[in-house]
Parts: sequence; structure tokens; C-alpha cells
Amino acid sequence: MAAAGSAVGLGNIWGFPTQAASNGGAAFLIVYLVLAFTLAYPALMAELILGRHAHANAVTALAGTSRNPVAQWIGRSAGVVGFIVASLILSFYAIVAGWMMSHCLSAIASLVGANDLARWLVEFGLARNLLFMALFMGLTVAIIHAGVRDGIERWSSRLMPLLLITLVLLVIYVLTLDGAMQGLRVYLMPDMASALSPKLVISALGSAFFSLSLGVGTMLIYGSYISDKENLPVAGGLVTGVDIGIAVLAGFLVLPAMYVALNNGVDIFAADGSLLSEDTLIFAVLPALFETMGATGGLVSLCFFFLMSIAALTSSISMLEVPVAYTIENHGVRRHRAVLVIGVLIALVSTIILLNFSTLFGLVIAVTTRYSQPLLGFVFCIYVGWIWHRDSLLQELQRGAPNVESTLFWTIWPWHLRLVCPAIILLIFVQSIR
Ligand code: PFF
Repeated sequence: MAAAGSAVGLGNIWGFPTQAASNGGAAFLIVYLVLAFTLAYPALMAELILGRHAHANAVTALAGTSRNPVAQWIGRSAGVVGFIVASLILSFYAIVAGWMMSHCLSAIASLVGANDLARWLVEFGLARNLLFMALFMGLTVAIIHAGVRDGIERWSSRLMPLLLITLVLLVIYVLTLDGAMQGLRVYLMPDMASALSPKLVISALGSAFFSLSLGVGTMLIYGSYISDKENLPVAGGLVTGVDIGIAVLAGFLVLPAMYVALNNGVDIFAADGSLLSEDTLIFAVLPALFETMGATGGLVSLCFFFLMSIAALTSSISMLEVPVAYTIENHGVRRHRAVLVIGVLIALVSTIILLNFSTLFGLVIAVTTRYSQPLLGFVFCIYVGWIWHRDSLLQELQRGAPNVESTLFWTIWPWHLRLVCPAIILLIFVQSIR
């Protein structure tokens, strides 16, 4: 449940649908689904298995796969890059999560008649952005600091079904509105010519890795918490299924909602047909959708943005855990100090991003999610597939799945991880920078 909590977050409802909308809809959906099941799921398994075996953070776990000093050094370096990338992801994530919280509070302000406040809370402004980023980071730090992560995750596992139900109801509602069918057509009728464009493929790869929290050591740490009795291929399959399912479902909401908003006079596209502001797309189209609901719209808005804030929190705590676990385990720093210092440093980076929003925001997202996560995933595939001893890998899997050797998973996955995953990740990467 914790791994699913980490996976389900802004990547599903803000990241995937926005990427799909700006990359040809259905073509993106198809490439995303193919990459999620053929590359992201095997990479997730690599992290979970190695994590459970090593019972440590990524730096120690990767170095521990080999006795060769060069391989150990490269593994350790990849782990360190992973924790820097996780921290950078959190620095932009806190900004977007802050917007979720401000929209939630705006719904409350509207319900009690504080209309000026409600308007300020949804307007894009430096003061609001800084305040809510800091609030969200404060909450993330407080949860890890107080050691109540388990409680939050248990709580969120109860709220996750509620998020799912809200999404399903919203999809049903949006599909009854004028303009929705055009959005549905864009989402489901592929233009296969654009499906092979390098920009689309690398964006879909980044989206899949981001959505499943891969490459930065998060899932490895969660793997280290999983009990030996757990059947890992099944657990990993469930996390992948839930995560991809929620992202695809969110696409059924956001793309039709875009065209409904367009129908109602909201500007979404520039003259050349591109999206006006990708980053804030859902904060324009979803409130426009809630407005069409009349009096109940306020409550639905409150409920939706509250659930999204919680989903973002269960992801952000998993990100902060990466640098915190490393500093505690490898440098002997006390947990309280590590959480506070790292939390403040990340909030400072978020502040720098907010002060230079137009140049830095998109850049940090591209560098971390589109390039670093798949490349670090590549390193995991090499270490688990080639460097770690195959017998040790099998033994680890057999703990929770005694018959794994005779399953389809064991017949396909190790070879797939060794050959197919690294080759395709590299190919996509080379294509995209040519
Ligand atoms: N998977 C999260 C989401 O979809 O919102 C984002 C994420 C969490 C990325 C944890 C990376 C990470 F380490």
C-alpha cells in the first residue's frame, strides 16, 4: 500500500493527462502503456527485489551487488545521483502540490463566502506559490519528523478508493457535457504518425518512470520494508496496475474536460494549436468543470483537491525518505536533524525555481523525469540483471514465491531486464538527443 501511495500522485492526474494532451492524445496513451508494462514494470521489480535483499538505501544496495571496486564505485555514484534527483523532483513537486492545497482552501473560502480570498488562492502569484510550497514542504517534513509516516500511509490507503470513486464519477459526469466527445476522440483515436516521434517517446518513457517513482531509490527503500513472505512479482504487478489504471482514468477526465472548457469559452490552445500553459492546464480546466455543476461544484472541488493533496503527500514523503535514509544510514546523522536540514534545502531550491519560474520549472522537470529517471533505471537494470549474482537474485525471489522458478515471470523477466530494457532505454535516449 505504501508503494502504491508513492506511485499514485500528481504524476497520474497532473503529469500524465497533461503530457497526453500536448503529445497527440491517443498516440501518447498507446506508447505510454507499452513502455509502462515492458520497461517500467521490470525496472520496478529490479528495485523492489534488490531493496528487499539489501535492506538498505540505493547507495549501499547498488554497491553491495559486486566485489569489484569499479562496479562498487559506479553503483555508489548512481545511488548518490538518485538521491539528488529525488530531492530535485521534490522541489518542483512541492510547488504543484501547493497549488492543489490552495485550490482546496479556495473551495472552502468560497463555501463560507470569502470570495476575495478564494480568488487570491487560485490566482497564479509569487506570494501564493511561495506560501503553499512552504506549507506543503512543512507538512512533508513534519510527517517524516514525527515518525507518523505509517499512520499517514494507512490513512491514505483508505482515502485512495475515495479518490478512485471521485475520478470515476467525474468521468461519467464530464462525458455528458457538450464538447466532451471531441476530447474523447483525441484521447482514443491515435494518429500513429506522431506515435514514433522521439519527443513523444521520451516524454512517455519519462512519464512512466515518474509515475511509478522509479530510478531514484524510492521503490528500493520500500522494497527493503517489504516482508520476506510477500510475493514480489504479484505485489509489483498490483502497484503497476493501480498506478497505470489511475493515470489512464485521469486522462478520461482531463482531455474531455479540456474540450468542455473550450466549449465554454476558456482559452486553452495557442494560435498554432499547442497548449497555452501545460503546467497549469488542469488548474484551468477542472475548476471550469466544477463550475458547471452549480451549487454542488464547490463541494466536489473541495473533495477533489483535498484527495489530490493527500495523494501528493504520500508521494512526497517517499521522496524525502530517499536523501534522509541515505544521510542517516551512511553518515550517521540523527533523523530529526537530517529531515530538517534536507527539508529546508529542498524548500530553498523550490524558492529559486519559483523566482525564475519560466526558465527553471520546465527545465527541472525535463532534466529529472525525462532524462535522469530512465537513465538511472538503466543502471538498475544493469546492476540487477548483469552484476548481481543470478543465484542470489533467485533466492531472494523464492522467499515469498517458492515456485517462482517454474513461472512465466522467471522465464522472461531476467532476460528481459538484461537485454531488452537497457537496449530500449538507450535507444529512446539516443533518438531523443539526436
Ligand atoms: N510517482 C509519483 C507521482 O506519480 O506523483 C511521483 C514520484 C514519487 C516520483 C516518488 C519519484 C519518486 F521518488
